[in-house]
Amino acid sequence: MTMNLQAPGMSELKEQLDRLDLSRLPRHVAMIMDGNGRWAKARGLERSVGHYEGVKSVRRATELSSDLGIEFLTLYAFSTENWNRPQREVDILMHLIGMAIQQETPDLVKNNVHLRLIGDIERMPKEAWDRLHACEVATQHCDGLTLTLALSYSGRRELTRAARLIAEEVASGRLRTEDIDEQALASRLFTNGMPDPDLLIRTGGEERVSNYLLWQTAYSELYFTDVLWPDFDKPAYLDALIDYQRRERRFGKTGDQIKATTKS
Ligand code: IPE
Ligand code: IPE
Ligand code: MG
Repeated sequence: MTMNLQAPGMSELKEQLDRLDLSRLPRHVAMIMDGNGRWAKARGLERSVGHYEGVKSVRRATELSSDLGIEFLTLYAFSTENWNRPQREVDILMHLIGMAIQQETPDLVKNNVHLRLIGDIERMPKEAWDRLHACEVATQHCDGLTLTLALSYSGRRELTRAARLIAEEVASGRLRTEDIDEQALASRLFTNGMPDPDLLIRTGGEERVSNYLLWQTAYSELYFTDVLWPDFDKPAYLDALIDYQRRERRFGKTGDQIKATTKS
């Protein structure tokens, strides 16, 4: 992955970039984009205005990830549970997702960003689905940042689906029970082939995972911020990356063991 520190706007971030160890960036950052409704409400506006405003934050997060040479950015855009919101809000969100993706497609191609979708995408209304699919096709050849949108996504459903796939393969004789290991399960998740997130950022002040990437975040560093998603700008993202680098990822080992391996 290539880093582009000369990209427009990067000089304004110099003070924070100086505090970042560019050789130790996360490979995969996942985000729960929360707080759009409250952002709008605080301004006496309709919740949907917050969703519109949130698109700008998506663009900023994508741009910075790409400029830093981060390989994977996975954004929680719509959960399975979000289908239970008032129909009007769901309709607006679906329209907005389709519109935004169509609008951004040329820039994604230009910036070599590959779009990937995870979740029960078939549940998306046709208008949004068509535009998402067109973007997937248009960015298929891009080998820079992989931007994954989680849409109609539920971690439990993803795991249940994997269990069903495995059961079918066992029943038909294509898979032996003794060959079911962690890799067998992971490869039947939507995220097959992607490394697990190193860092999970949730904006909006809530400290919960809301059914997001339940399997994949087993060892992710969690970062919660009160910043509402429409206010999540590049400096706020850099704050999260700087905080991430202050952590010691031990994966069950002792701190001394980790220090011994990083020194050598
Ligand atoms: C996140 O913002 C966007 C989606 C879940 C689609 P919310 O709409 O959840 O905003 P709050 O949490 O109500 O402020
Ligand atoms: C999580 O946000 C889902 C997305 C950001 C898409 P919610 O706002 O739906 O989460 P809860 O319901 O507060 O946990
Ligand atoms: Mg919310």
